Amino acid sequence: MLPTNLLNTDLYSIVSAFDLFEGMTIPCEIFYKQNSDLKLALKNTTLSKISIINLQKLEMSYGSLYVRNCYFEVIDNEIKKEKDRKNLVAFLNIYSNIKTFASKVIDNTLQTKSINKANTDIVSFNIKNTIVTFSDSHILKAVNEKPADYYYLYNHSIHVAMLNGLMGKWLKYSDEQISKLVRIGFLHDIGKTRIPEQILNKPGPLTDYEFQIIKTHPVHSYEMLIECGEKDTEILEAVRGHHEKTNGTGYPDRLPYEKMSEYSRITTISDIYDAMISKRVYKSSNSPFEVLDEFSRGKFSNLDPHLIDVFLQRMPGELIGKRILLSDGRVGTVVFVNPREYLYPIVNIDDNIIKTNEKLRCLSFFD
Ligand SMILES: [Fe+2]
Repeated sequence: MLPTNLLNTDLYSIVSAFDLFEGMTIPCEIFYKQNSDLKLALKNTTLSKISIINLQKLEMSYGSLYVRNCYFEVIDNEIKKEKDRKNLVAFLNIYSNIKTFASKVIDNTLQTKSINKANTDIVSFNIKNTIVTFSDSHILKAVNEKPADYYYLYNHSIHVAMLNGLMGKWLKYSDEQISKLVRIGFLHDIGKTRIPEQILNKPGPLTDYEFQIIKTHPVHSYEMLIECGEKDTEILEAVRGHHEKTNGTGYPDRLPYEKMSEYSRITTISDIYDAMISKRVYKSSNSPFEVLDEFSRGKFSNLDPHLIDVFLQRMPGELIGKRILLSDGRVGTVVFVNPREYLYPIVNIDDNIIKTNEKLRCLSFFD
């Protein structure tokens, strides 16, 4: 039994047994308060199901459980990590279901050359829900997943929808605006289902004629949306305008910056980011760091500079802690991304902190 006054001197913090989990190591004592005395419930152990149930019973009977303040942060960090892990599992489950359904929706569009509005609404609704429910880091894990060997329209469509949704979140858009951005992202390239496959996936360089055909896809997307009953002009215009450039040299309407909606300027950025990190028949994939580097150096000079700033401010932080495949075959964890040198982040490889460089490059995220 401990003296009661210890409890009253702020030396203890409250923990809940309902946050503890099986397999968790408790490096200290856990107490409960009976009348005005602190009593030991358990100490220095790895929690089993039974021990957690016993702690929960004590918490329900006596109000709270306590640990010494000096151990609270360790325990709290473990609890946060476990919650994050469980959250990631839940997200990956939902993401897998979204992918399965979205691939069927796109396949169906390829066959019928028309959009089933109800089904695309379901996909957009579910993607939007994941954006507002899960952490940005989980969403980006899906976007930055190891690129598929073959280009799938549904993958790109989901990724652009997610990036658009994140940008909406970062720009503090309303729920309704985020929903629109997600729908625009999911359907921006749907018009490609009306482009002949041999042109769309041609391994070699395109002829001028073939390029002109490819360039019709935003108009096809726009028309397909009108045909399926889409009435929202902001969605229609942004889908049509996702290849416009801020200096008025884009297509299909050569709109200048002032006439491009923010929705379409956001979609352009999301589209370029995902296209660059994806493999295509005519190009290998770039790492997210290469894309950030090119964005920061203004390689795509006709993007909205304010939106690029937002993207560059938010994206690097979300890449920290991710496991990455390096060009020498090793796997490291990103620990720091220098905003003055996006290309070469600092990584932890087997507990060695290493700055990547021209010879040791980051390729793609590992898992
Ligand atoms: Fe496009």
